[in-house]
Amino acid sequence: MSEPVSTAWSPDSWRTRTAAQQPAYPDGEALRRAVRELAGLPPLVTSWEVENLREQLAEAAAGRRFLLQGGACAERFADCSARTITNKLKILLQMSLVLTWGLGRRIIRVGRFAGQYAKPRSADTETRDGTTLPSYRGDLVNGPGFTPAERIPDPRRLVTGYHRSALTLNFIRALVEGGFADLHHPEYWDLDFVEHAPRAAEYQRIVDSIGRSLRFMETLADTRIGEMGRVDFFTSHEGLLLEYEAAQTRPVPHRPGFYDLSTHFPWIGMRTAQPDGAHVEFFRGVRNPLGIKAGPSMTPEWLLELLDRLDPDREPGRITVIHRMGHGAITSKLPPLIEAVRAAGRTVLWSCDPMHGNTEITAGGRKTRRFENIISELDRAFDIHQQMDSYLGGVHLELTGENVTECLGGASGISEADLERDYRSEVDPRLNYEQALEVAMLVARKIQRMNGER
Ligand code: PEP
Ligand code: CO
Repeated sequence: MSEPVSTAWSPDSWRTRTAAQQPAYPDGEALRRAVRELAGLPPLVTSWEVENLREQLAEAAAGRRFLLQGGACAERFADCSARTITNKLKILLQMSLVLTWGLGRRIIRVGRFAGQYAKPRSADTETRDGTTLPSYRGDLVNGPGFTPAERIPDPRRLVTGYHRSALTLNFIRALVEGGFADLHHPEYWDLDFVEHAPRAAEYQRIVDSIGRSLRFMETLADTRIGEMGRVDFFTSHEGLLLEYEAAQTRPVPHRPGFYDLSTHFPWIGMRTAQPDGAHVEFFRGVRNPLGIKAGPSMTPEWLLELLDRLDPDREPGRITVIHRMGHGAITSKLPPLIEAVRAAGRTVLWSCDPMHGNTEITAGGRKTRRFENIISELDRAFDIHQQMDSYLGGVHLELTGENVTECLGGASGISEADLERDYRSEVDPRLNYEQALEVAMLVARKIQRMNGER
């Protein structure tokens, strides 16, 4: 059961623990100024939105909803533009329509956006031609350019990141309110890529069928789908930079406890999930629903210890375990985790991140992921959960609404040579618009087959 220390939580109690992956700010006074400023600014999200999401996640854990979580590995400040944000909403919305169609369940849409600005790195420093500088840790910390001016951690970026998150969220809220969901026009779906795909006819049939369903519902309701009610989007990011998270963490009127109001749904990354570390200490005290990434090194004992610390009261919707084992390791690594959680009498929402266990480096030195490996891990994940009488209730993807060339394969057959054409990510490779839509279609098809339909 949970620890005796559990009574002594405060928004600052993490400071007594070891915090992995934090930048070394050279100017402590500048850091304190930035954090004070952040703490005085209004929250980015509200506690009632956070509670609403937690309730929806609880329904997903119970098998009645499905979580679609996706976005960039790392957002860039420069990507805070109308085009990037609109394209990201569009792909998430289209994927969610395909999934609703395939699963017959309500989809919870969560973006890795409006705050996904801080990255864990495998090394603290990077050396080029005899010069050593701090590693790039995301725009919230420093810049990617290999100069001291860019790489030395700058606390002003905490404030800039907050502003960019607020601008992103403001635009998303306005689009959603304004009936952005005008998706039944076939021309709105960029389906050129499927022409040459082996499954072209099937993909076209899915989109046509979604179009017919939307028109049918509109006829019934005598209004346009976009006006039939808000589609919700929630925000998420890795809760990595504890100064940033703590500055936005506060009590709210009329509800007990503290909320991290920088995002609806923070997750704890693989590299900061030490049970006695600062991140677990910090997040055990906030009321938000939490994600926990689980890679192949996650043991059943470790996961249960995290659950005891982070969810001592066994609250429905509190924990989403996002497994990211890799297509090779999932068969041996996932079942013991499912078994241990069940034996502990716990309910969590299980989600599959088929990206982070499938990263490889090409001969040309590019970080990439193969579409077939991503699909294979997802496929295995659905099968394993079904065989164990468990419910896989979500997917977690790194994607973009643009046609970048960062992951190999997919219907349009991106090759190693193609990677050079439009590779933009400073960190992990993302599915592009077409690949992301194809993943949604393959997941929809998979679930229909599992359910013995069509
Ligand atoms: C990520 O989601 O970008 C990430 C770093 O994941 P993980 O902690 O699973 O490696
Ligand atoms: Co990533």
